[in-house]
Amino acid sequence: MRIAAVGDLHCRADTRRNIAVALSGVDQEADVLLLAGDLTDHGTVEEASWLAEELSQIKMEKCAVLGNHDYEGGTGAEVKKILCDSGVHVLDGEPWTLNDLGVAGVKGFAGGFEVAQLQRFGEEAMKAFVDACIAEELKLEKALFQLRTRHRVALLHYSPCRQTLEGEPLEIFPFLGATRLSGPLDQLRPNLAIHGHAHRGALRGATRGGVPVVNVALPVLRRLGEAARVSHARRLTPLSLRRAFRFQSFTTPPPGAASVVRKCANRSNESAQTRARTVYVSPVMA
Ligand SMILES: [Fe+2]
Ligand SMILES: [Fe+2]
Repeated sequence: MRIAAVGDLHCRADTRRNIAVALSGVDQEADVLLLAGDLTDHGTVEEASWLAEELSQIKMEKCAVLGNHDYEGGTGAEVKKILCDSGVHVLDGEPWTLNDLGVAGVKGFAGGFEVAQLQRFGEEAMKAFVDACIAEELKLEKALFQLRTRHRVALLHYSPCRQTLEGEPLEIFPFLGATRLSGPLDQLRPNLAIHGHAHRGALRGATRGGVPVVNVALPVLRRLGEAARVSHARRLTPLSLRRAFRFQSFTTPPPGAASVVRKCANRSNESAQTRARTVYVSPVMA
């Protein structure tokens, strides 16, 4: 199973065509495309329709979660329906499977990290804020628990760990994710957790329990000029799958996804056998 993933496409009138460029060729490189939220810029029906149009050109399985921007217009349900009608599996706490791959998808929420994590104490507004994160945590736990596939991926918009936020202003860390989201990951141990949302964050991190975490927010990928690769061979055990995690870097930002694919192929020193089970995780937009 070959996985491609990207978040934060932020589809709007002036970016919709770039999305087609960014995703060009991804259906040749991967079996499934995971979309980590903020798919639209302001969560409007119009933006969702544009995105659905662009995504429908890509003939592969697509699975997504929504991000905070997708709720901005107050029409999150309509955004979800438009994308679902176009063939995207939009998850909000449900498990989704494709052959031996299982995806547990939730948006997640904010709340902060480790000892500084926001606690359910004091004003009702504060309790409601923490409750929103706990609700996402429970949905993630339930979705992961239902997966019986050999390989399991957690797909979120908010980050479950602190490391992938490095590069963001420290002051906004609490609004970019929550350690609370890592509880189900460390307990039920998917092979990988993917998120977006942290545009200025770092690519790689891990939960406290060692579950690998990748921030596939498009601006991160553009800035780093990296095409990330994840090995996901059918015969690999979860442990060897984690070991097989690999990324490929470029010294200059590639001009577009097609170039990324080309550079991956040209620069790769891997054997044909290894290459066949390796897929870049992130299309990079010009
Ligand atoms: Fe975003
Ligand atoms: Fe976001």
